[in-house]
Amino acid sequence: MANLHPRLKKYIFIVIVIAILTFLGMYRYYNMPDYSVLTVFTLLSLMVESLVIVLPGGGAVSVGFAVSLTAMIITGPLGAAISCSVGLMLRYGKTSREPTRHIFNTPLYKTLFNGAQSFLSVGLASIVYYSFNTDIGDTNFYTNIVPLLLSIIIYVIVNASIMTKLLSMLNNKSFVNMFLGNFKWMLPNCFIVASLGIFLSIIYLNYGTAIMLIFFGPLLLARFSFKLYLDMKQIYFETVYALSKTVEAKDPYTDGHSKRVAEYAEKIGKRMKLKNNQIDTLKTAALLHDIGKIGISDNLLNKPDKLTNEEFSIIKTHPAIGVDILSTVDFLKDVRDVILKHHEKYGGSGYPLGLREDEIPLEAYILAAADAFDAMTSDRSYRKGMTKEKAISILQEDAGSHFHPQVVECFVKIILEELSSGPLPNFQH
Ligand SMILES: [Fe+2]
Repeated sequence: MANLHPRLKKYIFIVIVIAILTFLGMYRYYNMPDYSVLTVFTLLSLMVESLVIVLPGGGAVSVGFAVSLTAMIITGPLGAAISCSVGLMLRYGKTSREPTRHIFNTPLYKTLFNGAQSFLSVGLASIVYYSFNTDIGDTNFYTNIVPLLLSIIIYVIVNASIMTKLLSMLNNKSFVNMFLGNFKWMLPNCFIVASLGIFLSIIYLNYGTAIMLIFFGPLLLARFSFKLYLDMKQIYFETVYALSKTVEAKDPYTDGHSKRVAEYAEKIGKRMKLKNNQIDTLKTAALLHDIGKIGISDNLLNKPDKLTNEEFSIIKTHPAIGVDILSTVDFLKDVRDVILKHHEKYGGSGYPLGLREDEIPLEAYILAAADAFDAMTSDRSYRKGMTKEKAISILQEDAGSHFHPQVVECFVKIILEELSSGPLPNFQH
C-alpha cells in the first residue's frame, strides 16, 4: 500500500471503516442466521467468486450476485452481507489475466476493500429489501416485486459507486461519466443474474439445500462451455497475431505496428458502437491488413527514396495479394473485404478499386485511420515518428478527402482523452 497515492489510501480506509460501522449497526439490529446456513452461503459465495470468468478485453463475469440475492432472501441482511463479503475475500481464482489470486498473495488492503465493497452493496440492498416489512425466508418472496427491484437497483448503485470512485481517482477521470457508463452496463446484467438468484431461492425454500446445490451442476457446465469458447477465441487471435508478425519480420521498424493498429481500431469500433462480431472482424483485419506485403520485395518496401509510378503500382497490389493469401479460409470473408479496401479513400482517390463514400465499409475506414495514425507516430528507418498532436491535425485536414469524417472525429476524441489522462497506476480489484 506504500506506493499508493495518499488520497487513494484515505479512500480505501474510509470505505473499510464505513463497512465495519455498518456491520456493527446491523449486528445490533438484525439477528444472526443459523451458522450452518451461513456456512453454506459463504461456501457458495466462495465457489462462485472463485469461478469468475476473465474476459479477453478485461473485466470479468460472475454469478456472485445470484448467490448474494439468494442469501438475502434466505438468511436476512446480516447473513447475506457476511456470507458474500467473506466468500469474496477468501476466493481462489483468476480475476484478471494475472496469476491465480488468493488471500495469501493479495495485499491485505485489497482483500479488505473488496470485502467492504461487497458487504456494503449486499448489506444496504438487503436493508432496503427488509425495510418493507418483508419476512426472512418468506416462501412467497417473489410477490414482493417493489422491494426486490429496489434492492437490485441499490446493489448496483452502491457497488458501482464504490468501484467507480476508486477507478476515477486512479485514472483521473470524471466520476459521473464513468459511473453512468458502469451503471448502464451493470444494471441489465444484474437483473439477468438476479433471475437466477430468485430461481435458486424458490428451489431452496421449497426443496432445501441439497436440491438447490444440484442446480449448480448445469451452471458449472455452462461456465465450462463459455470458458472453452473464450479460450478458443484467444487461440484464434494469437494465431492471427503470429501470422501478422511474418510481415513485420521484413522490416524491424514496423514491429508491433499491426497490434497497435488493432488496438486503435478496436477502441474506435467500440466508441462507434459497432457490434461484437464487427469488432472481431475489424481486429483480425487490422492484424492482417498488410499480410499481402509478403508478396512484395523488401527493397521496394524499405526504399527510403520516392517510389516511381511503376514501383507504386506494385505496392498497390498488396491488398489484393492479402485477399488471395486468405482466400482459402472461409470464415475470413468479411475480413478479406476490409483488407481489400483499407487503402480506399473517402473522396474516391484511393486504391485498388477507387471506391468512395458509402461504397467503402465503415470497418475499412476505421482501419485506414488507425493504420495512418500509427504509421505517422512510429519511427521508420528513414525518419522519426511525429507527435500525436501533429498526426491528429493531419487526420483532421484529410477528413472528407482521405478519411471518413466521423471516424476521424471519434478517433481524435479517443486520442485526446488518452493524452489528458496519462499513464494508469496499477490496482487490481
Ligand atoms: Fe496497407
